[in-house]
Amino acid sequence: TVGKSTNILWHDCPIGQTERQKLMNQKGCVVWITGLSGSGKSTLACALSRELHSRGHLTYVLDGDNLRHGLNRDLSFKAEDRAENIRRVGEVAKLFADAGLICIASLISPYRSDRSACRNLLPKSSFIEVFLNAPIEVCEARDPKGLYKLARAGKIKGFTGIDDPYEPPSDCEIVIQCKIGDCPSPKSMADQVVSYLEVNGFLH
Ligand code: PPS
Repeated sequence: TVGKSTNILWHDCPIGQTERQKLMNQKGCVVWITGLSGSGKSTLACALSRELHSRGHLTYVLDGDNLRHGLNRDLSFKAEDRAENIRRVGEVAKLFADAGLICIASLISPYRSDRSACRNLLPKSSFIEVFLNAPIEVCEARDPKGLYKLARAGKIKGFTGIDDPYEPPSDCEIVIQCKIGDCPSPKSMADQVVSYLEVNGFLH
């Protein structure tokens, strides 16, 4: 997918990220939430968006499941399509961060190499990887869409955590721990991320 566009030149505009950020009292960044299906990624993304919005900050949520209804509707769940899914969302997230927004991306993004490629798209420290570490037992017990049941019955092939890999981050910025019978509330998960953003100068 690289290198098919030739004879192209970059064109800069006088109004850039710095000027936009001044209007918004925040620093554009990408909060990238990774975790198993059913771990609570979308719940955290929405809780975080609500919390930041209530404090006067501009956010946008890019949710894997939702984007597969449009931008990524042509992609399957085989490894190379997941890589393309993550690449596209990474590029879109980069644009939103450049626009000055706090962009919250919630995708399973099971491969370290795909996540690290997204990280490399952004300026250092503007890619904040959040690992929603919920064990598969918790996700499967929740099974909000009934997909684990279908996967166990062999009706979905290549389901993450069942017969497809999930590579946990080894060096992410934030880990949210969810144990059997002891998972943080959406608000407290969001607060953990908000604190990070505050301490690291993304919210003014
Ligand atoms: S990925 O791996 O990042 O490309 O996946 P993502 O775009 O986040 O989409 C995950 C949602 O797709 C549904 N789904 C599957 N997930 C994992 N494996 C397989 N085979 C699969 N088939 C469908 C599922 O509802 C995921 O939603 P979440 O919100 O993660 O539960």
